[in-house]
Amino acid sequence: MRFVGYLLPGVLALWPIEKWYLDCLLRHSELYAACISEEIFFTTAGQFCNPFLAQIAVGVFLVQLGNLFHQIEITTRCNFSCSYCAGRSMDQQDMDWETFKAIVDGLSPQHQHCTVSLQGEGEPSLHPLFWCMADYVTTSGHTPYSILNGSRLDAARIAATFPRIGISLDTLDASTAERIGRHNLTKVLRNLEELTAVMSPSRITVMSVDMGQPLGPLRAWVRQRGFGRHVIQPLARKDDYARHYGTAIRFTPRRQPESAVRPSSTCRFVQSDLMRFYTWKGQELPCCFIKDTTGIESIPQLKQSLARGEVPPGCSGCSELRPL
Ligand SMILES: C[S@@+](CC[C@H](N)C(=O)[O-])C[C@H]1O[C@@H](n2cnc3c(N)ncnc32)[C@H](O)[C@@H]1O
Ligand code: SF4
Ligand code: SF4
Repeated sequence: MRFVGYLLPGVLALWPIEKWYLDCLLRHSELYAACISEEIFFTTAGQFCNPFLAQIAVGVFLVQLGNLFHQIEITTRCNFSCSYCAGRSMDQQDMDWETFKAIVDGLSPQHQHCTVSLQGEGEPSLHPLFWCMADYVTTSGHTPYSILNGSRLDAARIAATFPRIGISLDTLDASTAERIGRHNLTKVLRNLEELTAVMSPSRITVMSVDMGQPLGPLRAWVRQRGFGRHVIQPLARKDDYARHYGTAIRFTPRRQPESAVRPSSTCRFVQSDLMRFYTWKGQELPCCFIKDTTGIESIPQLKQSLARGEVPPGCSGCSELRPL
């Protein structure tokens, strides 16, 4: 009790600093790579913020790194057909090398050492230049990261190239995986087995989407195998994701305010530089949540549109929107 008595006033007194550390954590954590749905920021923050001292320590460490998180959608092509994936109805394209190189070259010297996640709405390992891209991130002085669907893992190369890697796995049940569109679960699990033979599981984050399937067995398996982290993401609720959800997905759309005059709005991502997302065409976006880029020309223009009360389709239904 005495401990709580000291801790609580301390936490309250240091709240502005805490918020600052929290922002830093969110800004730099490799889990940013996993932030496909807006809710995950809160899930992630909750995991990191306890205990308070650990948060301070990690915060200090990350502030020393002092950099933005960058995510590059190197392809929208995929060999899976996940029912919740916005990428399946996008143009199926690879980013070209020149666009990729210009983005990475543009990071320095402005951002000295960044985490660069090679991942968007496609399977990164399908890009013919995937390995060249990961190596280019490293030789440019940054840290490569990616999330893979596990269907085609080159274990030795992943271990040598990526300090940490994300692998998506929604279930241990083959028929559920097939129903979701994550094919050949047996092969994915075998690939993961081979990966953990050459790379410590602590370097691997397992990424799962919670679609209401039983998650208990998967949770226990992830714990028992010693994976570094298990990120369970809720289904993204923004309109540009949800419009692709078929009847197989149980999902309640977020209710929109029914007002003819929209209030001026903003969000943390256009207010300050928290991350950058680059579409396969090379378009720079302030966050990784925009799947419909209609009406978005640049980050300053998006900020002005929101301030005028004009919400483009790519921001519609986003829980990050706040009154200005
Ligand atoms: C878009 S995928 C791309 C990387 C790779 N193809 C894969 O599936 O791991 C990145 C992560 O986003 C998740 N994801 C995709 N669509 C989602 C949605 N509508 N809601 C929540 N998470 C989603 C995937 O499950 C995966 O863990
Ligand atoms: S594996 Fe990844 S990119 Fe492919 S369909 Fe599934 S979520 Fe989308
Ligand atoms: S409101 Fe738009 S820019 Fe802001 S986080 Fe949501 S999708 Fe991204």
